[in-house]
Amino acid sequence: MAIERTLAIIKPDAVGRGLSGEILKRIHEAKFLIVAIKSVRLTKSEAEGFYAVHRERPFFKDLTEFMSSGKVVVMALEAEGAIARWREAMGATDPAKAAPGTIRNALGASIQNNCTHGSDAAETARFEIGYFFSGLELI
Ligand code: RTP
Ligand code: MG
Repeated sequence: MAIERTLAIIKPDAVGRGLSGEILKRIHEAKFLIVAIKSVRLTKSEAEGFYAVHRERPFFKDLTEFMSSGKVVVMALEAEGAIARWREAMGATDPAKAAPGTIRNALGASIQNNCTHGSDAAETARFEIGYFFSGLELI
């Protein structure tokens, strides 16, 4: 399997509940390399730009308000098969349906407040990493 990079976000619910350390520990234990990391607070329009693929979805307004409601921790993670492996580590979108041992199962509160984000394909990973990090930050 090829070495890939994916974008991971610790969402405002998890940052606000003091779970950043716990999630970073899981990232470390799962042997992802953190290529770049920063803590930022998105504006509403920055959250809308990030989630533009969802702009027609009924949950778009709530999602972008939520994602701009507090600080997030954004990371570019590298590993073999990083995109699928990070999504496996997070578990299903709805914490109630996420497999035991996953981040969302252990820590998620609701389908919206589900603690983490992960890119869903190679093309989205490229777009999402470039949305937050410059070339210099990704060396
Ligand atoms: P993410 O993009 O954040 O990694 O999550 P995902 O792929 O598992 O789910 P996606 O379908 O891309 O949805 C993006 C985020 O929108 C919120 N959501 N709310 N209220 C709802 O029915 C609903 N559905 C999705 C979640 O925060 C989800 O992670
Ligand atoms: Mg998604």
